[in-house]
Amino acid sequence: MKKILVTGGAGYIGSHTVVELAQAGYEPVIIDDFVNSKESVLGGLREILGHDVPCHHVDCTNADALREVFRQEGDVAGVIHFAAFKAVGESVQKPLMYFQNNVGSLLTLIQVMTEAGVGNLVFSSSCTVYGAPDSLPVTEATPTKPATSPYGRTKQMCEDIVHDVSAAPGNQLHTILLRYFNPIGAHSSAKIGELPLGVPNNLVPFITQTAAGIREKLTINGDTYDTPDGTNIRDYIHVVDLAKAHITAVQRLLDRKATDVVETFNIGTGHGNSVLEVVKTFEEASGQKLNYVMGPPRPGDVPAIYADATKAADILGFKTETSLFDSLASAWKWQESLGK
Ligand code: UFG
Repeated sequence: MKKILVTGGAGYIGSHTVVELAQAGYEPVIIDDFVNSKESVLGGLREILGHDVPCHHVDCTNADALREVFRQEGDVAGVIHFAAFKAVGESVQKPLMYFQNNVGSLLTLIQVMTEAGVGNLVFSSSCTVYGAPDSLPVTEATPTKPATSPYGRTKQMCEDIVHDVSAAPGNQLHTILLRYFNPIGAHSSAKIGELPLGVPNNLVPFITQTAAGIREKLTINGDTYDTPDGTNIRDYIHVVDLAKAHITAVQRLLDRKATDVVETFNIGTGHGNSVLEVVKTFEEASGQKLNYVMGPPRPGDVPAIYADATKAADILGFKTETSLFDSLASAWKWQESLGK
């Protein structure tokens, strides 16, 4: 069994990827500092997989602690690096914290991987690197625009760092950069899902918490955008579909099939949905009536973005399987399980 270290493996996308890795015959090992995740996730993983997933309680900016993980784990085939802060608004308030954590952890990880002779990396990037694109859908060749937040800038900087490191003489690092669109939903077992700490920033957990009565109402951030119904358009991808893209990427690296030392893929459905469409589809999928009001635009939001998913389909053979309806149904099932 090939051992794959998963930084941020107790987080939302990380935990779903750990499940898919284990079920595909890999040996996932979690590295997480639990600053933005809960230990209870490990129990959910145990229930799904029927065994414990090894976990190191380590902050990836701590080089010595990370070195010790690699030493203890021995033969590591590759790393999937999720660990990062991800709240756009918070990054505007605390930019230094975002640069230190998101950029610092990547630098430390690459340094420690190099020392340990581990050369395969899958990195969590984001469609945020495109900024406000001039044309849609965005392909991997769409020029990146200035980021609309420090968070977005950390993702751009991390991509640049990977490219520069990989271009240096004697480089041993092979990386696949996955640019995620908007992950939603939860595992079909409802044993793991998104666990926002405090008031959710993202649309779907806000919707499910409103339907559950935890929030009074959803405020839709603007309905006068230049889109068919005036609300923002995003590409919502089910988190298990997104998790599966990582398995394909890891396999491609291990099989030495990558044609470049750094490859980049959009991971989305290729379809855009408006906020109102998400709300309406949620109401159908959950049977719940949602209390919502229109509000002002949220600073930094781009009006519309969705993926051209052709490259991932052609090269990785990756296609999403879950509809928006089923994704939202899974999010609701997860929310209901939290209430129990
Ligand atoms: N929205 C609302 N009300 C809410 C929350 C969100 O109307 O209470 C709207 C947003 O304005 C946006 C859409 O729902 O139009 C989706 O918002 P999210 O916050 O769920 O997602 P974003 O598209 O803003 O952000 C996501 C990821 C980021 C990433 C970004 C890149 O969460 O990590 O995509 O575009 F940087």
